[in-house]
Amino acid sequence: MTTRTRALDTTELEQRVKGMYAEVALQPDHDFHFETGRALAERLGYPPEDLDRIPAGAIDSFAGVGYFLDLADLAFGETVIDLGSGSGTDSFLAALHVGPHGRVVGVDMTEEQLAKSRRVAVEAGFGNVDFRVGYIEAPPVEPGCADCVISNGVINLSPDKAAVFAAAARALRPGGRLALADIVTASQLPEGVTCDASLWAACIGGAMQRDHYREGIQAAGFEIERWRENPRYRFVSDRADNATQKYGVKSISLLARRL
Ligand SMILES: C[S@@+](CC[C@H](N)C(=O)[O-])C[C@H]1O[C@@H](n2cnc3c(N)ncnc32)[C@H](O)[C@@H]1O
Repeated sequence: MTTRTRALDTTELEQRVKGMYAEVALQPDHDFHFETGRALAERLGYPPEDLDRIPAGAIDSFAGVGYFLDLADLAFGETVIDLGSGSGTDSFLAALHVGPHGRVVGVDMTEEQLAKSRRVAVEAGFGNVDFRVGYIEAPPVEPGCADCVISNGVINLSPDKAAVFAAAARALRPGGRLALADIVTASQLPEGVTCDASLWAACIGGAMQRDHYREGIQAAGFEIERWRENPRYRFVSDRADNATQKYGVKSISLLARRL
């Protein structure tokens, strides 16, 4: 699996990603390269009646790229880890599915996103969700504790995707599921795109070629059971749109099982 970090300044990248998603948390109505909020979630297939049951403040800063909770098929009592939980939309929906005897741990590195998800969790009385500061490459969770790891629009942002897939495998019990939505490409992106921290932070520059992405998941000890494209996801700026047309940048959802 290739992870293209050679000419990328990962410290600058982390700052750019944090800066962009701090703004998504604080000022979700700003113009980004991508859409945010409830209209996006509904277009991607999130059931409106489920969205009605979670905090509106979380959905305002939703910045996911696809729906995948149907693939996750969460059951009452399960433990779920949300890698890159942002303002918490998927964590809160997962919390509804697993019920009061289940547990959801959201992990994110951006302070403003964490502050927002924690605040709305308290305001809405979600006692079975816990938001932790951390990196998705080494999430602060106990090995083998999870029945399901979820993630939405985040792994493309990591300069070390192999570490993220390995961390997901480590967090899961044997037979546990990985259910996610993310951005991949049809052809490998050129360095002009991968080294552009702004396109990377917008979920384009870090997108991995789809066969390499699948191989990365399999190499971490998963079997991929479902894979589907999310044609309703689109980028909104001209710059982002040009890159997506040229290199076949696409949103996908998948379900994989830890062997
Ligand atoms: C595109 S947003 C998606 C947020 C959320 N999953 C959603 O659907 O609204 C990406 C999130 O991942 C977080 N993130 C990106 N890279 C990360 C990393 N390496 N470790 C932890 N969090 C990360 C960002 O802070 C941001 O909140």
